[in-house]
Amino acid sequence: MTANRYPNLRLLDHPLILHKLTIARDARTKSPEFRRLIGEIAGLMAFETFRHLPLEPRRIETPVAVTEGARISQPVTLVPILRAGIGMTEGLLALLPEARVGHLGIYRDEETATPVRYYSKMPVDIADGPVLLVDPMLATGGSACAAAEELRQLGCTNLRMICLVAAPQGVERMLEIHPDIPIHTAALDERLDENNYIVPGLGDAGDRIFGTR
Ligand code: PRP
Ligand code: URA
Repeated sequence: MTANRYPNLRLLDHPLILHKLTIARDARTKSPEFRRLIGEIAGLMAFETFRHLPLEPRRIETPVAVTEGARISQPVTLVPILRAGIGMTEGLLALLPEARVGHLGIYRDEETATPVRYYSKMPVDIADGPVLLVDPMLATGGSACAAAEELRQLGCTNLRMICLVAAPQGVERMLEIHPDIPIHTAALDERLDENNYIVPGLGDAGDRIFGTR
């Protein structure tokens, strides 16, 4: 695990994850492969990101004997930030089909990079279990902070975030405003450019997932 200077950041830099992330970063990688890779990386990250899920004992009968197993004891909610978070959500649901999905529509204003919220649909009992905020890109941190704020207002206390590429600015902003939210990322990149894109990053994740540019 690569060392990092942020107490809220967990780098999940398994060789399989970095291999796939490198192909995804490549500007020549087209939408169908990019979308598949984003889902696959999310699935690989899930092993560590879901490690904290609470379990309860469950007595079952195998074909051979009665034994004590374990089941996840609380309802888990994935909250993708639209649009790009959808790409990771598919990979996470493949591993945890029981998870509910709350959709949160937020986009960055192209001039100011400030978040604009346009949609929200959450499970009514979202606060009863762990919530995973899902977005491949953490750039200025504006979208993630706005999303975390909304989830807190709904009473969520067990929050964490999963992303693919994080910029130091976004991690620092989350640390300042939401220090108790762990962020799991596949990479901590260098910086933001003058348009607030992550460098080296992977470009506009939503456009690349959905082929809109
Ligand atoms: C991207 C990305 C994040 C946000 C990150 O979404 O998926 O939600 O930008 O930037 P920030 O940390 O500076 O807020 P975008 O605004 O491009 O919306 P889209 O997915 O609908 O294209
Ligand atoms: N959103 C993206 O999709 N990419 C970036 O580099 C920054 C914000």
